[in-house]
Amino acid sequence: MPGKIISGAGAVGATCADNIARKELAQELVLLDIKEGLAEGKAQDMMQTAALLGFDTKITGSTNDYSKTAGSDVVVITSGIPRKPGMTREELIGTNAGIVKGVCENILKHSPNAIILVISNPMDTMTYLALTATGLSKNRIIGMGGALDSARFKYQLSLRLNCNPADLNAVVVGGHGDTTMIPLIRFATWNSVPVTKFLNEEQQKQIVADTMVGGATLTKLLGTSAWYAPGAAGAALVESIVRDEKKLFTCCVSLSGEYGQKDICLGVPVVIGKNGWEKIIEFGLNEKEQAEFNKSADAVRSMNDVLKTL
Ligand code: LAC
Repeated sequence: MPGKIISGAGAVGATCADNIARKELAQELVLLDIKEGLAEGKAQDMMQTAALLGFDTKITGSTNDYSKTAGSDVVVITSGIPRKPGMTREELIGTNAGIVKGVCENILKHSPNAIILVISNPMDTMTYLALTATGLSKNRIIGMGGALDSARFKYQLSLRLNCNPADLNAVVVGGHGDTTMIPLIRFATWNSVPVTKFLNEEQQKQIVADTMVGGATLTKLLGTSAWYAPGAAGAALVESIVRDEKKLFTCCVSLSGEYGQKDICLGVPVVIGKNGWEKIIEFGLNEKEQAEFNKSADAVRSMNDVLKTL
């Protein structure tokens, strides 16, 4: 079994941790939170499932004591406040930027070789912040949004096609925002057959629209942002890293001219392995898709500019 992983202990972090433990992706898993007792409590609760579920991962909790996280290989950053109904992910920037920057700095003091997985919102800007604030090599900073949005895209497609979501291949690129994400329906397939063969234009538009507000729909229903799919998406990325699976996910990564953009972190298809994100795969967007991608980049870039004013 590989080494040591750190995760937040809020709803998303704990769900991610639960998946990590069940899959035995780490020997040691440390939950970390600022709220007194929360991380320790959730760690104990999860450890009490070990006898029932039969996993060997050892889970401990820490209230803000970073020395307990020393020597970690992967860090899942979920810190910050989640959105409330009616709020965009972007409205969280002022509060979450300071928190995410502080967490990155403290983590790296004790785990200088860690790969950082960013889930905190607004995710594209928080990923950019993690990259610029830490000065780490770009391959070690991965934003989670696209892996989650692609799973939500498959869910919406599976409802209309009445099929098993695991039989679908479908990706969402661009930003992790209600108006910035781009579900690439032209490339989506049902066991290699283009889904556009089974869906009329109206249905396709509806699936794309429902995917884009996938998170907001849940926030409205739950009163806070979702955790099962975000946590599972985080764990799937951790799995590809620690098992060096080289799976292709859409993740938010630093672009240096790929997809026509640079000095920005945005969702594109990447190979995820033991070195973090290892390779960007160019899908070859058509003119309309590229225009949408550029628009998404403009929106994320103006969010990134807010960082300078904080
Ligand atoms: C969501 C949050 C995690 O989309 O961004 O549910």
